[in-house]
Amino acid sequence: MRVVSGIQPTGQPHLGNYLGAIRNYVKLQDEAVAAGGECLIFLADLHAISMPHDPAELHSSTLELVATLVACGVDPNKAILFNQAQVPAHAELQWLLNGTARMGWLNRMTQFKDKSGKNREGASVALFTYPVLQAADVLLYQATHVPVGEDQKQHLELARDIAQKFNNDFASEEEPVFTLPDPIIPPEAARIMSLRDGSAKMSKSDVSEMSRINLADDADTMAKKIKKAKTDPEPLPSETKGLEDRPEALNLVTIYAALAGVNADSVLADFGGQGFGVFKPALAELLVEKLGPIQQRFVELKDDRESLDAILARGAAQAREIGMPTLKSAYKALGLIRG
Ligand code: TRP
Repeated sequence: MRVVSGIQPTGQPHLGNYLGAIRNYVKLQDEAVAAGGECLIFLADLHAISMPHDPAELHSSTLELVATLVACGVDPNKAILFNQAQVPAHAELQWLLNGTARMGWLNRMTQFKDKSGKNREGASVALFTYPVLQAADVLLYQATHVPVGEDQKQHLELARDIAQKFNNDFASEEEPVFTLPDPIIPPEAARIMSLRDGSAKMSKSDVSEMSRINLADDADTMAKKIKKAKTDPEPLPSETKGLEDRPEALNLVTIYAALAGVNADSVLADFGGQGFGVFKPALAELLVEKLGPIQQRFVELKDDRESLDAILARGAAQAREIGMPTLKSAYKALGLIRG
């Protein structure tokens, strides 16, 4: 079992990132260790340059994200935690895979269409080839399990297509160069929505701070954001079906359920018939109980440059070693170095 996943260091990590991705990393890191495998979690800083960015900000976001991951329970003694930029093999393998990836495949990627919008001609080439770098990220390590959100499924399918074509074209069936990775999309893939608009995802790019709970928010701020969250005047129903046309109510119940580790029906069994005057304070309390310790560890770690640098340096050294044999095999398979 080899778990590999990446997360982009842009903006402040929030509750949606925690419930949708980071919490799942912690679970998988423990499973991988128990199974005698490895778990590699990296900050996708090379991907971050596909959009306009500020270099100083990218650097500080990267360190802040390391502090966040560790505060959330990613343990540098169990998982290999690093940033792409310190492992040149990611960029090298991407170039090798550019020979295998087809224009037609990349043209079908919906993320490129979304992110480039109307300005396709002005988009960076990196934004277009982004999925090939993502394929290199996982194929480099012979990943078996790749935890991602629903929106990354298409990129993972592309990674499989690239691996398959490369193996077909340049390797024998007995000795494939790459392992085909499987995406793992957490079942509770908690789609956490904005606190201001139940139809929009909770996002670091939302202009309203009140739309999201940041992992760095202190207890009072978290409680205030829940108190001000948009709702409707109805009391909570006693079954999930009653939430169908109430996206804001559904979102708050989803958050409660995800934090408590139960399903929405069981939350409604407790709170059905109650209004938000009762439910919101209970949610705020649960939120502070679960995120408070994370926020504290984050604050302790975030300015400890030396520790953060050391974590990344050690992780990168481990990653370089694990990736080396596959990178060499790819060079050999392509006839670039002697086989
Ligand atoms: N593209 C992913 C995202 O935006 C981040 C990412 C980069 C990634 N490389 C990866 C995720 C490799 C999984 C595996 O969420």
